[in-house]
Amino acid sequence: MKVRTAVIPVAGFGTRMLPASRSVPKPMLPVLDTPVVHLAVLEAVEAGIEHIIFVVSKGQDAVRAYFEHLPELERGIEAKGDTKLLERMLAIPKLAQFSCVEQKRQLGLGDAILSAADATGEEPFVVLLPDDVIWSEASTTGAMVTLFAERGRPVIAVREVPDERVSSLGIVDAAEVADRVYTISGMVEKPPLDEAPSNLAIIGRYVLVTDIFEALRQTQPGAGGEVQITDALASMIPGGVYAYRFPGTHVDVGRPLGLLQASVTEALRRPDMASELQEWLRGLNR
Ligand code: G1P
Repeated sequence: MKVRTAVIPVAGFGTRMLPASRSVPKPMLPVLDTPVVHLAVLEAVEAGIEHIIFVVSKGQDAVRAYFEHLPELERGIEAKGDTKLLERMLAIPKLAQFSCVEQKRQLGLGDAILSAADATGEEPFVVLLPDDVIWSEASTTGAMVTLFAERGRPVIAVREVPDERVSSLGIVDAAEVADRVYTISGMVEKPPLDEAPSNLAIIGRYVLVTDIFEALRQTQPGAGGEVQITDALASMIPGGVYAYRFPGTHVDVGRPLGLLQASVTEALRRPDMASELQEWLRGLNR
C-alpha cells in the first residue's frame, strides 16, 4: 500500500505565537529563512509523498500562495542573474502537487483531519503537524511509512518528554516490540501528570487509514472541548495501532522559545553560519 498523500493542518489561530501570528499565519513563521510549513513539506516529500493537502481556515491564503509560482519575483531574480536563488525559488512549486481544503469550524485537530476526508480518497495518508520540527538523518515520516507497509495499521510518532510537558500532549501506553517500534494499548489527550500512563508523548506525525474518518465522526469533543485525533485513534487500538520512537532532534516551534531553538539548531547545522553563531553565543556569556 503506497502512501502518496499528506494532510498538513494549518488552520489554527496560533494563539501561543501572538502577536506575531495576528496577520502572518503561524506555519509561515520562519526557522532561520524557511517557513515551518516548508520544512514539513520537505520531510513529506523525502518520504515519497506526491500530493499535499493543506487544511486552511476561511480566507487564509498565505500557505497556498507560498507554494505557487511567483512570476514577478522569478523574473526579478533572473534579471539580477542570481541563478542559484532562482533555482531554489523555482523548485518550491515543483515539490509536490498542492491543494487546499477549508476547515469550516475551529473544532480541533480531529475536525481538521476530518475536513480532508473527501480530498484523500480511499488511500492511506500521512498527517504532519508543522509545529513539530524534526531533524533526523532520514525522514521520520519516511520511516513511519516503511513501518506502515510492514504492519498495515496506523503509526504515530512518539518521544519521551519531561514531566512538565505531559499535560500538554497526547500520551500513550505502549510496549516495545522491535527497535523503536511499540504496540499501543492506550492513549489519552493531555492527561494530568498523575493520570498519564507514561512519558511517551505523541509528536505530530501520523500514518492513517481511511477508517479514521468514521472513527472521527463517532468521536465526541474531548480535551479542551475539541474533537481529538487521539480519541479517534484510541478507538482503533483493538485492530492495532503502532508507535515509532524516532531518533534525532525535535522542537515544538508553536511556542516562542521553540521557534528560537529551531533557528539556532538549524544555523548550527549550516556550514556558512555555524561558527559565526557559536562565536556570538560565546560573546553573550562574557
Ligand atoms: C496535538 C495532538 C497531541 C500531540 C501534539 C503534538 O496537540 O492533539 O496529541 O501530542 O499535537 O504536537 P496540539 O499541539 O494541537 O494541542
